[in-house]
Amino acid sequence: MSYSRLAHGEHTQPPLIVAKMEMLSREVTMEPKLVTVPEAIPVKVYSSEKVGISKATHDAHLGLWKGYANKTNEIRKALHEIDTDPSKANQIYSQMRALKVNYAFAYGGFINHTVYFDTMGGDGGTASGDVATLIKDAYGSFEHWEADWKSTGMAGRGWVFLGYDHDEQRVHTYIGDAQDTFPTWNHTLLLAMDVYEHAYFLDFQAARMKYIEAYMQCIDWNAVNARLPK
Ligand SMILES: [Fe+2]
Repeated sequence: MSYSRLAHGEHTQPPLIVAKMEMLSREVTMEPKLVTVPEAIPVKVYSSEKVGISKATHDAHLGLWKGYANKTNEIRKALHEIDTDPSKANQIYSQMRALKVNYAFAYGGFINHTVYFDTMGGDGGTASGDVATLIKDAYGSFEHWEADWKSTGMAGRGWVFLGYDHDEQRVHTYIGDAQDTFPTWNHTLLLAMDVYEHAYFLDFQAARMKYIEAYMQCIDWNAVNARLPK
């Protein structure tokens, strides 16, 4: 039997292609993987009240964290159902562009807040463990890194990130103006400091440096070390 054309113009496919098409069809019909919406701030984080970052701030912050998780899931569902016909995509405006751009903002926001809350609630101070060694190797001393971190916190519009670069096997501090800027590829996020005003205005009004100094006193360095790749 020819696989190219049957008597009435009907097309069919070789068995291998049919099997591949069936596999792709199953992939398309699989439900999208969703992130878990956080139900609470980790209890240890509330110990930051001793340095002035209040429970009220964290509780309000939980609503924002949940919002990023919910929107991540909403966009994943929309991307699952979107018409992927390339002729309908457009760089000025299209559903594909809107979903992809906002996906990075939503999922970035979810991840950043996950790391922010995971690495708070400790005793702060000088770094410990392997992270301390990595910081010293990259910045010469903890004090130099700390000054760089604080300065980046004043220069950023939203975030400061400490990333582990798998290519160079070193850490680097990045500035983040939003949930989705500006780290580079092939990094593991070890520490994320939120410097959006919602993270500190209730407690410190416009005095961001006071918030940063308080934050430095409640970093959980054990949690930061636990995020290092094995
Ligand atoms: Fe935030």
